[in-house]
Order: sequence, then structure tokens, then C-alpha cells
Amino acid sequence: MTGTVDPLFQPLKAGALDLRNRIVMAPLTRSRADAKTLAPRQINADYYGQRASAGLIIAEATQIMPEGQGYAWTPGIHSDEQIAGWKLVADAVHAKGGTIVLQLWHVGRISHRDLQPGGKLPVAPSAVKPEGKAFTETGFKDLETPRALELDEIPAIIAQYGRASANAIAAGFDGVEVHGANGYLPDQFLRDKTNLRTDAYGGSIENRARFLLEATEAAIAAIGHERVGIRLSPVSPANDCADSNPEPLFTYLTERLSELGLAYLHVIEGETRGSRAPEGAFDLSVLRQAFKGVYIGNNGYDPTLAASRVAAGEVDAVAFGRPFIANPDLVERIREGAPLAEPDEATFYGGGEQGYTDYPTRGQDQAKVA
Ligand SMILES: Cc1cc2nc3c(=O)[nH]c(=O)nc-3n(C[C@H](O)[C@H](O)[C@H](O)COP(=O)(O)O)c2cc1C
Repeated sequence: MTGTVDPLFQPLKAGALDLRNRIVMAPLTRSRADAKTLAPRQINADYYGQRASAGLIIAEATQIMPEGQGYAWTPGIHSDEQIAGWKLVADAVHAKGGTIVLQLWHVGRISHRDLQPGGKLPVAPSAVKPEGKAFTETGFKDLETPRALELDEIPAIIAQYGRASANAIAAGFDGVEVHGANGYLPDQFLRDKTNLRTDAYGGSIENRARFLLEATEAAIAAIGHERVGIRLSPVSPANDCADSNPEPLFTYLTERLSELGLAYLHVIEGETRGSRAPEGAFDLSVLRQAFKGVYIGNNGYDPTLAASRVAAGEVDAVAFGRPFIANPDLVERIREGAPLAEPDEATFYGGGEQGYTDYPTRGQDQAKVA
């Protein structure tokens, strides 16, 4: 078994990021920030520290401003307390020789007025109501019709991507990942089901890509292109987002992103947490071709598939999501060909140590059995 996973253990340079292996921890919302300040706490530092043997940790989606929040107890990166909280996390990972970036998040319409400052409506490119529920402090509630952003409100949001990037560096992160995936605000601008605008941010592919490109450029201006990565989910229907013709849209976007010299492009291949080849999907290898830089694949990988795709040059590294929840020592288990533990979905969001920092490593597991 060991021989077959060797490709995953070749080091990789992604811009300014040094990955000691090609096993990346995907961003995972766990809704366990401090309830009042939405700052990370010691428990969050413990959790990420346990997983520091990953080649790269992409820390969970983190709101760049209060309006960017869409779920209860998700962390922010817009206050001093939040920067201090994230410093605990970055320090814990660095103490174990790991590399960690922060995922920058604005949820747009995937929110609820209960989570918004002043109880206002969530904002979006257009007033198009999403199907689905919001996870609030008092339970699941129907998503609402958002308020369409005025043209003159957009620059302040773009600028916040730059400020959040600077805050992430101040907290000790090695870089940031702009969250352009899963039907959140940048993705809502990209796709024609959610973007009905007729100004410079809507209509043509160039116009719909503008928001995400400007947000990425703001991050680059703040911390440098070699510390900025991006995540896309070109064929995922997550959060009721869709496009009538995604291939030219995402090909254009990837070509433009390639020109920016980013640390990496991170692609959710298929339906997020679902099929790797959903109906109507196009062949994502065109994006691999279009992006001249490090390409991270994700979604439904097991170690064998990951190693074979890295060996074939189809991806440079692979991000694992759910496997990292239940296996803090995922890297060691993959190296040894050991079985992987399954995560408990009931403890994904909210709560404390249970289902978070109490998953045993393999050695601890075996000690328990003995
Ligand atoms: C509990 C949970 C939380 C997630 N949170 C995020 C997130 O914050 N940002 C993001 O881009 N994707 C998020 N995802 C998607 C994962 O990063 C990943 O794309 C997905 O789980 C598929 O990878 P996997 O098959 O290895 O689990 C989340 C997934 C799960 C299961």
C-alpha cells in the first residue's frame, strides 16, 4: 500500500506556501467560535493543531465583515479579538511545522436577518430568493429574498477582502483563500441564476466575473499574489446557485485568475459533498489546462484516487474534507495504509469538544482497544 501513495508525499511549493506533502485539509465550517465575539478560542487552536501534519490547512470559511455571516457561531476576521483568536490557531499549527491559510467568506444571500447586523436583510447581486434553510442560533429558518446591492455599495465589500487579508497575515496565517465556491456572494455574482444585474457587475461573462476578480485583486494588493489562493465549484449546485453555460464562464475566469500569479487554484470537482460527475457537468480538465500554477482538487477523494491523480499530473495536491474531521492523523494513516474513521454528522456544526477535538489518532485508538 505504502508505495501507491508515494506521490502524495512529494513536497510542493504553491506560491509562497511550502507544503511538506500534497494532502490538504479542506475548509470546514464547524460553528464553534466564541458565541459573543465570534473569535476563535483555545479549543479551535487545539483542533487545528491536531491536524497540522497536513501539507496545507485551509482554515474554515470566515466572514470578512459582519454582513458576510450566514451561519451561527462562525468566526470572523474583522475585529481585534478575532485576529487575536486566530493567532492562537496559526501559532498552534506553526508550532508543529504546519502551513495554514484562512478562507475569506461573504455569504451574500445565504443568510438570515437573525444573523445580520441590525436585523437587516442579507444582500446579494440580485433579489433572487434561494431555496433552503439558514442555520441560526435558534434553529433552522427559511432563507429569505435578499436585498440587491446598489452599485455604489460594492467597492466597500471588495475593499474588505483586502482588509481581511491583511488581518489574516497579522494573525500569523501564511496566506488566504478567497471563497469563490458553493453559491456564496462571489459565486452569486458569477452565475446567471443569481445575477440579474444590468450594470458593470452583471450580464456578460466579463461583467459577472468582475466581482470575484476585484475581490481577489484586493487580497493580492494587501498581501501579495503568492499568498492568495482561490476556491471555485464550477459544476456544483450548492446553495441553489447555477449557470446556464458554466464552461465558458469558468474558463474565462480561470484564464484571468491565471494571469494574477496566485498561490493556487482549488476546485471542488462535482457536486459539493456529492457526485464527482453530476448531470450536465463539463470536463474540468480545461480549467487545469487554463491555470498556469498549482491546482488542488477536492471532493470525494480517497487516498488511492488522490495518489493516482497526482501521479498522472491531473492535480498537484488533493484536499480532503470529511476525512480530516474524523482523522486528525489523516496524513499518517494514509502513509501507513491504515483504515480511516468515519465522521459523526450530528456533531459537524456547533457544540464543543465532542466530534471536534476528541477523535483519536490511530495510536490512541489501538491503545483503547487493547
Ligand atoms: C462540515 C462541513 C463543513 C464545510 N465547510 C466548508 C467551508 O467552510 N468552506 C468551503 O469552501 N467548503 C466547506 N465544506 C466543503 C468541503 O470543504 C469539501 O468541499 C467537501 O466536504 C467535499 O470534500 P470531501 O469529500 O473530502 O469531504 C464543508 C463540508 C463539510 C462536510
